[in-house]
Amino acid sequence: MSTTTVLGVEGEERNDLSKEESRQVRRRSLRLLGSLLHPLRMRLLLTAIVVVVSTAAQVAGPALIAFGIDNGLPALLKQDWLPLAAAGVAYLFTGVIGAALIAWYTVLSARISQAILLDLRKRVFLHTQKLSLEFHESYTSGRIISRQTSDLDSIRELLDSGINQLVQGFLYMLFIAVALFSIDGVSGLVLLGSLVPLYFLTRWFQKRSQALFRISRVASAKVIVHFVETMTGIRAVKAFRKEKRNEKEFGGLVEEYRDVNARVIQLFGIFDPGLVMIGNVTVGVVLLVGGFRVADGALPIGVLLAVLLYTRRFFDPMEEMAMFYNSYQSAAAALEKISGVLEEEPSVPDPVKPVDLWSAEGHVRFDGVTFAYKKDRVILPEFTLDIPAGQTVALVGSTGAGKSTLAKLISRFYDPSEGRVTLDGVDLRDLHPKDLRRAIVMVTQEAYLFSGSVADNIALGKPDASREEIVRAAKAVGAHEFVEGLPDGYDTDVNKRGGRVSAGQRQLISFARAFLADPAVLILDEATSSLDIPSERLVQEALQTLLSDRTAVIIAHRLSTVAIADRVLVMEHGRVVEDGTPDDLIAGTGRFAQLHAAWRDSLV
Ligand SMILES: Nc1ncnc2c1ncn2[C@@H]1O[C@H](COP(=O)(O)OP(=O)(O)OP(=O)(O)O)[C@@H](O)[C@H]1O
Ligand SMILES: [Mg+2]
Repeated sequence: MSTTTVLGVEGEERNDLSKEESRQVRRRSLRLLGSLLHPLRMRLLLTAIVVVVSTAAQVAGPALIAFGIDNGLPALLKQDWLPLAAAGVAYLFTGVIGAALIAWYTVLSARISQAILLDLRKRVFLHTQKLSLEFHESYTSGRIISRQTSDLDSIRELLDSGINQLVQGFLYMLFIAVALFSIDGVSGLVLLGSLVPLYFLTRWFQKRSQALFRISRVASAKVIVHFVETMTGIRAVKAFRKEKRNEKEFGGLVEEYRDVNARVIQLFGIFDPGLVMIGNVTVGVVLLVGGFRVADGALPIGVLLAVLLYTRRFFDPMEEMAMFYNSYQSAAAALEKISGVLEEEPSVPDPVKPVDLWSAEGHVRFDGVTFAYKKDRVILPEFTLDIPAGQTVALVGSTGAGKSTLAKLISRFYDPSEGRVTLDGVDLRDLHPKDLRRAIVMVTQEAYLFSGSVADNIALGKPDASREEIVRAAKAVGAHEFVEGLPDGYDTDVNKRGGRVSAGQRQLISFARAFLADPAVLILDEATSSLDIPSERLVQEALQTLLSDRTAVIIAHRLSTVAIADRVLVMEHGRVVEDGTPDDLIAGTGRFAQLHAAWRDSLV
């Protein structure tokens, strides 16, 4: 797997996009942003007002000092203390108001960003969960994980600090410039002059840092991917003694990451002093120009002090503002990717007018079904099959014949490209999702156990099941004995030490789960492959009682499992090539008879 497909690094989905496509991607991001901000618009307005007033209050300070010096002090010398007191009180007042408003602004903006993130997190989870299997089979789990983690993190970073700094910094600089021009135009012009070197320095920094941050993100993603791959494949790593090679590879990647970080730090090592220097030189020039004018009597000394304070403070937010662009870029890329996932439509949509099927009989029918995962490669051409209610069908055939595909169509993990699959005459596409899930259950080889107790895992098939029902289901599939033997019996946590179960035991648990669900149609896709012969026999006995009153499709490579079926279908290249009772087929001369003969010979 390449780095980009696993973690969805920078540019992953932007490769080779045409102008029109990237415009659409941008529109898609904006739509998402709009839908996130819309419910918060009143709060946004309030926050904007608060930040404007608080910045204005902060910027008022030096002007008040100038007033105090130029008007208050001369007045005081004439025994009039009022102007100076007014300046002092006003300074204090704006200081307190400014601080209080900043505090309020911080809380308001944090609430907004948390609300946006909460909304987005939920949306990403619920939507990816809702998307059909088709999406998950092609969109690697690593990519989904990075949507929910690193992408949301870069958006959080932007919201938490980036935007705050930009808004505050921008307003601050704007207000200072306005204040400066209104109290002393000449100093304003000097400040304007300083913008020229400032512009070039910032441009230089942005270009370099953008490139470096991108390299840094890719390097960190490579480190993570290597780590994740090694740890998930730890058994293969150990079995093939790959440790030494990994050590070298990982060492190289980590060094690469360190080097690029060192370069980022170097960049700041130039940018920060550069900013300080431009600031200092500007202050120096303002002092020089202003000093001469004070000496000439053209400029009151208080104004010079205020001008110097303004000039000094003007450069304060610069560094954060220069950084904003970087966090903005990664957040924008993240938003593009997230909006891409959120705009995916489930390929197996819920019906608009669902048909309720309270109790299904279990009559499954394929009506002229054609199916292809990808347009140009048809897996099932013109498939017609009728499985009467209550029949147990064994599906055999070589690898890649399309058995699992057939199972996925019955479970409606996919919809046919043409034709229809029906349950009791109702097209699966029209069936109410809850009825569909209750009526049709598929058990696969995977037998996934969720964290929780064994009982919880069995109860997945029927969330409101009592303990007796759970135990009865376990007994029915022959799981009861081993469960009793676990440290805490049915309450054993499957992920804790001691609760670890073997692959076969996992399958038994997933069987109990399906038994408890009691569906009208049960599909077992290689679900008995991890069971040893005795327990398989045990399961077969249980299967027989269970399958007696429901429709069942069993896909199994072991022919012993096939013996309990009423009917055997042999599939090749997406077609049924043989169809009959086990005995008839064994007596014949077809593929199944050959397979069966070979299997019987292998037993003796
Ligand atoms: N998600 C998928 N996307 C594209 N093609 C797929 C997908 N799943 C299966 N196929 C293709 O469909 C064909 C049938 O696969 P299927 O899994 O149904 O075979 P199978 O009969 O269950 O095989 P096995 O006995 O090995 O489980 C194969 O050629 C396979 O390459
Ligand atoms: Mg299969």
